[in-house]
Amino acid sequence: MLPIRYLLAVLYALGPLPLLFAQQTVSISSPDKSIVLSISNVQTGAVTYKVSYKGKKVIEPSGVGFVLSKPNVSLTQFTIASADSSTKDETWKPVWGEVSQIRNHYKELALTLADKGSSGIKVLVRFRVFDDGVGFRYEFPQQTALTHFIVADEKTQFALAADHKTFWQPGDYDSNEYLYNTTRLSEVDATVASNKEKDTALKSLIGPNAVQTPLLFKTGDGLYISIYEAALINYPVMHLQLNKKTLTLTSQLVPDAVGNKAYLQTPTQTPWRTIIVSDRATDILASKLILNLNEPSTIADPSWIKPQKFVGMWWEMHIGKATWEKAGGKHGANTQNVKKYIDFAAKYGFDGVLVEGWNVGWEDWFGNWKENVFDFVTPYPDYNLDSLTTYAQSKGVRIIMHHETSGSVTNYERRMDAAFQYMVKEGINTVKTGYVGRIIPRGEHHDGQWMVSHYQRVAEKAAQYKIMIDSHESAHPTGLHRTYPNWMASEAARGSEFNNAPTLGITPEHTTILPFTRMLGGPMDFTPGLFRFNLNQFDSTRTQRVRTTLAKQLALYITLYSPLQMAADLPENYEKHLDAFQFIHDVPVDWDDTKIIAAEPGDYLTIARKTKGKDSWFLGQSPMKTAVTSRLISISWSPEKPTWLPFTEMLSPPIGRPILKPT
Ligand code: NOJ
Ligand code: CA
Repeated sequence: MLPIRYLLAVLYALGPLPLLFAQQTVSISSPDKSIVLSISNVQTGAVTYKVSYKGKKVIEPSGVGFVLSKPNVSLTQFTIASADSSTKDETWKPVWGEVSQIRNHYKELALTLADKGSSGIKVLVRFRVFDDGVGFRYEFPQQTALTHFIVADEKTQFALAADHKTFWQPGDYDSNEYLYNTTRLSEVDATVASNKEKDTALKSLIGPNAVQTPLLFKTGDGLYISIYEAALINYPVMHLQLNKKTLTLTSQLVPDAVGNKAYLQTPTQTPWRTIIVSDRATDILASKLILNLNEPSTIADPSWIKPQKFVGMWWEMHIGKATWEKAGGKHGANTQNVKKYIDFAAKYGFDGVLVEGWNVGWEDWFGNWKENVFDFVTPYPDYNLDSLTTYAQSKGVRIIMHHETSGSVTNYERRMDAAFQYMVKEGINTVKTGYVGRIIPRGEHHDGQWMVSHYQRVAEKAAQYKIMIDSHESAHPTGLHRTYPNWMASEAARGSEFNNAPTLGITPEHTTILPFTRMLGGPMDFTPGLFRFNLNQFDSTRTQRVRTTLAKQLALYITLYSPLQMAADLPENYEKHLDAFQFIHDVPVDWDDTKIIAAEPGDYLTIARKTKGKDSWFLGQSPMKTAVTSRLISISWSPEKPTWLPFTEMLSPPIGRPILKPT
């Protein structure tokens, strides 16, 4: 037994830090004291942590630990070998983002836990307590008792104090392109929720009681709580298994092809497990906890990384005007069509033109689980990339490359260098990657450790070639855009493409839940800006309608932040509404400051942002399930007097003038 006296001595030695020690419990509070984290080591050896916010229960005593399959040992009973605490208060500047500087202020407690059994293994659990939440991760120091090891299960728990209102997606190893469900926690039924989803191409449902992170709760006593993860590196995604009787969620890691969760070697660490909490919904959206738990940028000179707005040869394939494939006579990405997009982009001041369906392989890309579909360097014969890149350059526009892997990631890894070299040769510095379909290596999942490491390899390799990334069908983002600011956006959720799906589509509340869930991890390539809501423009069988308003589509440019922001609709649809289109022209993609004015998940968002380097503000409102309208205004804001000028909703300003003016 590790003597309590020893622990006491360690804690006393920490000096004047506000650590309270009672029996076998260690507590630490946030800098503003609103959050208290307590860790207990009970007689049996179980170590539990609990979290409170302004005296209210956030997380009830919850276990930590692991089961390893190599060595075959259960790490769930410990003695506390040592405790160490520290404080940090620093401010850093992101390369781009919603704000120009970020404060990273926390108190830290690092507990070294020694296995109570005979393995001799030590695990360090590092807790950081911020004013807006808690992060903790496991660290496995170099030690003779543990070198290479295999994680069979992680046993991190999150015990909730009551049957909260919960915003959740079914737990799935391959897809995060679901709508969110809003029920009591005890009413989660992932099977029923998944059965409603007819449009998701690939599903690997975990089971009826499994949910994805980020998970959001609203409690009966007025708290908003988010459970997520930060800095997902060399480790599988964390989903959660719910025990409905105890209202406890336990980490459910994504397995690999043979059922293992992670292969690690000391010294190493897990991603951070995060709990963001506040009594104001707006604070959840303003939280920078996830970013703060990521490592600083690895890119010494980021001057080549540029936020951008783009249009694309894209939606016209989704709604049946054109096809990705050349066969069939409706090939969209031909030289003449793409030239029109370049002209349109140049005329209205866009930075980029995404071109999908440009390369040989689309005749046979979907659903075949096939190894060599694309080589990423061979354009279709009717697409003259050389001449188009020169033409685009002459107009101040760049083509955005598309690398759909069709899930054959082995193939992409083999060809990635050649593909990036080809981009560099053509003067293209942004790529949209895609992972539609089942993964090769066969048996791996989109959210498993192998794929998580793949996404990181892509970000690192792209950086070597000074290439910016927008990844689709990748694992949920966990703030890695701090470390890899060239990995600017990802889809990793149900995006606007689902407006074209025959059944559920995009519900009006979806875009008011995304910022509270998926988007806590990073920018989303949602592809807003649909101006035509009847989708039967080219195909009369498409009877579904986009459930939105023009004003709401515009508001999404503010409420769903991305430094790579698409104007998704067709040029001909924009040219019918040049008044509203003016807003997309004007709205920036990089900001000095962001104020979350009002927000309620599933209901409304009002966000104001200050243009980078300018004194102009933009406001987006995305209200209500009924999505009647949104308002966009120019405002004047002074930090000392944060009041809003009254405004009128106005969507017909002359081109070149502010779209909406205060009255
Ligand atoms: C799914 C992506 O989300 C979408 O944007 C893309 O057009 C298709 N895959 C084809 O790659
Ligand atoms: Ca997608």
